[in-house]
Amino acid sequence: MEMTQTQIIAVANHKGGCGKTSTVVHLAAELVESGKKVLVVDLDPQANASLHIGTKHPSEVEVTSAELLSSDNNLLIDALEEETSFRNVSLIYGSLNLGKTEDQLKEYSPRPNEELKSKLEPLVGIYDFILIDCPPSLKILTSNALSAADSVIIPIESGSQYGLYGVTDLINHISKINRINPNLKLLGTLLIKHDKRQNVCKLIQDETENTVGYLFNTTIPTSTKVNQAAILKQSLIALDKKSKIRLAFQDLTNEILMRLK
Ligand SMILES: Nc1ncnc2c1ncn2[C@@H]1O[C@H](COP(=O)(O)OP(=O)(O)OP(=O)(O)O)[C@@H](O)[C@H]1O
Ligand SMILES: [Mg+2]
Repeated sequence: MEMTQTQIIAVANHKGGCGKTSTVVHLAAELVESGKKVLVVDLDPQANASLHIGTKHPSEVEVTSAELLSSDNNLLIDALEEETSFRNVSLIYGSLNLGKTEDQLKEYSPRPNEELKSKLEPLVGIYDFILIDCPPSLKILTSNALSAADSVIIPIESGSQYGLYGVTDLINHISKINRINPNLKLLGTLLIKHDKRQNVCKLIQDETENTVGYLFNTTIPTSTKVNQAAILKQSLIALDKKSKIRLAFQDLTNEILMRLK
């Protein structure tokens, strides 16, 4: 097999419902559209990304990211699912068991924050992109994602007045992780449900620019197609290739590919 340079991207923000999972899912589909080989790693007990792109129910999957992380045995081959609803997107499922995994890592792992990094090591050179969907917390699972990643995308809910709540904690957390993973860089902040005609969105945009920076030029508009796509287990490309929301994810992908050059 030809070796490629693998980019590992974590999508993180401990604020719930800001668009992490939809970013992972639709970025994955667009990267494939650009000819890339993609793996999604679901680190969220809610397993929303798995529900969207998986062909099985997460509760029926024997080896998920939870078992992968907490076992001393090498379960990578068993955890890796190549058949998904998305062509050329592989998946390591998330599961409710991830709740226990945090405690297990804390108690038994010599390097509780670096389990994922070591477990994914054999896949470096195989996939072009590994996208990690984080849970809405800053605890050990998110630290594992950030320790394994080359870069991080921070989605920010633009339409919400609380969109930036806690984002400085996240930036501080990333700085701390930089001590164990000096490679980790902020790939960009991404405004989700953004509508530039709305004052709240404009305020959040300015404040993001001032407090964090690294804003992607692309912003993601509000669209019910995001929910539809999840229910139908489809990509936005399959659902409505020419829609504004799909084109936004396409632009985002091009921008990411440019930034990584
Ligand atoms: N651009 C959008 N337009 C409309 N709805 C959206 C958009 N992006 C996400 N949503 C919806 O908002 C909700 C939260 O999005 P998503 O699940 O991606 O966030 P999350 O950060 O992963 O949440 P959690 O913290 O619970 O994991 C979902 O119901 C999703 O379908
Ligand atoms: Mg999510």
